[in-house]
Amino acid sequence: MIVLLKEGMNELKIRDFDNTLVAPARNEAPNLPEGGIDLEIGCGVGLHPLQYCAKHPERFLIAIERTSERFSKFERRIGTHNTPENLLAIRDDAISYITHNLPLNSVNRVFLLYPNPYPKTRHLNKRWHAMPFMRQLKSVLRSGGEIVLATNEKFYADEAKKYMCSYWGFELVEDVELAFDFLGRTHFERKYLERKQSCYNLIFRKL
Ligand SMILES: C[S@@+](CC[C@H](N)C(=O)[O-])C[C@H]1O[C@@H](n2cnc3c(N)ncnc32)[C@H](O)[C@@H]1O
Repeated sequence: MIVLLKEGMNELKIRDFDNTLVAPARNEAPNLPEGGIDLEIGCGVGLHPLQYCAKHPERFLIAIERTSERFSKFERRIGTHNTPENLLAIRDDAISYITHNLPLNSVNRVFLLYPNPYPKTRHLNKRWHAMPFMRQLKSVLRSGGEIVLATNEKFYADEAKKYMCSYWGFELVEDVELAFDFLGRTHFERKYLERKQSCYNLIFRKL
């Protein structure tokens, strides 16, 4: 079934999410701390997870990266930083891992930092906000939980705001453009800010 939502002249269309079609995860379900977890999807070589865990010892982050090349660099980085006890680094496809391993209402915060923008019109269903998987991501998120989305693509930020608020029913609680002297949290963010490219940071809250 395809759900349509009319918004002015535009129709936002997203297929239903069918978890039976999602490939099995490579990793087993983690032991979850009582207070719930944070998730980082597509953490690349892992600069942000290490900094975040050091800064927030009270939180627990599962950082997921699917490519072996980037994940190996992340593992080497963890080795040189002493593995923080509040970090679980997972090499997996985040859609498989989250769908098959995480209970509903178990996540407090999700980071999507500089996702691949897939700018072609026909690739709309590869952008996180327009994926059927967003339904699953929303259901593992607790009420009041947040999705932090950063991108250097204005079209992506604008489209994400439209889908996340009008279609998925999130509340936009932060919408800022980062200052060029902001110390980037990820490699991509540092590269864009050094080049004086705009970086948009959006925070969506589940009501
Ligand atoms: C453009 S890079 C950004 C990396 C990092 N967040 C940064 O800002 O430096 C996007 C990353 O997301 C990862 N990724 C994309 N889809 C994924 C998925 N379904 N599961 C896990 N990782 C994924 C890619 O492998 C890639 O490393």
